[in-house]
Amino acid sequence: MNAKWLGLITILAAFASGCGKNHLSTLRPAGEVGQEQFDLMLLSIIIMLFVVIAVSIVFTIAVVKSRRKNMGEDFEPKDIAGNHTLEVIWTAIPIILLIILAVPTVYLTFKQSDTEASENDAGEVNSEEVVINVTANQYWWEFEYPNVGVVTGQELVVPTDTKVYFNLQASDVKHSFWVPAAGGKMDTNVEGINSFYLTFDDEKAQDSNRLFYGKCAELCGPSHALMDFKVKTLPEDEYNQWLADMKSIEEPVQASASDAAEGQEIFNNSCIGCHAVTPTGAGAQGPNLTNFGDRELIAGYLAHSEENLINWISDPEAFKPDNKMTGAYDLTDEEIASVAAYLMELKVEEGSGDVETLR
Ligand code: CUA
Repeated sequence: MNAKWLGLITILAAFASGCGKNHLSTLRPAGEVGQEQFDLMLLSIIIMLFVVIAVSIVFTIAVVKSRRKNMGEDFEPKDIAGNHTLEVIWTAIPIILLIILAVPTVYLTFKQSDTEASENDAGEVNSEEVVINVTANQYWWEFEYPNVGVVTGQELVVPTDTKVYFNLQASDVKHSFWVPAAGGKMDTNVEGINSFYLTFDDEKAQDSNRLFYGKCAELCGPSHALMDFKVKTLPEDEYNQWLADMKSIEEPVQASASDAAEGQEIFNNSCIGCHAVTPTGAGAQGPNLTNFGDRELIAGYLAHSEENLINWISDPEAFKPDNKMTGAYDLTDEEIASVAAYLMELKVEEGSGDVETLR
């Protein structure tokens, strides 16, 4: 098969594979913010199509009608100095189209520029709204729930049918926080905080198995394309329970199996300088691993299996070039296997936390 056909088939396959997935598409919005932005895109596409089709029709008619065959061999074109009617029409139509596009654009820009959760008289954030501080790092994400004092990495958990406010910053270089289904992306900078909010509709979350994907949308280094994260969307009561469960982990989870216990000891000697295993460790050099055993991905994109974890710890550079974990330790294969066994045991028991104590 020649290369052109192979290329075409690859592109078609890529399109087809994207069709069934809700969780990484701006075309299947996850909530109000995404829906409003999608509607605006649709409106501008309709206007553009109208212009392209109208101009193409007029152009085609002009070309066909004016062929020498139709006009006769002796035809002499008329000398036209100007046409006021035409000029008014082709000035007025674009102005009208731009106004049609500008009104909802400006309205939405102001509507979605709400960046701060509202507070009650005591200065507490309205319980209907949630604030999450996001820190982007080469090449992983930290999510902090400041009202509760819980930190996690790589997997963002949000409540549905609630305004979720994000305060975004970066620790090293510029990145960009993007959950395509939920709405437009926003840069994370080192020198300041950018804020915006997103919403996740519970019904749409259910259609998407309660999962959406996020990506880094700003070229930030060799592993930029692998800087993915997962967004778990839970109904409010389950979200509160998850937060309470996370908060209840005051001491690191103790390993039970003997190889995991050995792994815990190695972890405490070699890894704990960078990775916290209690949920209060904001700003650690590496992702917080408190609930690592519950996660669905390793390093944001590898399937969550012990085998992948061993491979990842053995040679992180092979999976995420230029990441900071590279060469930070010198462990034998057996030691790495026990550390992996320990990490797989880092699960947060469901229902262990008391929701009443959240705030
Ligand atoms: Cu971070 Cu691209």
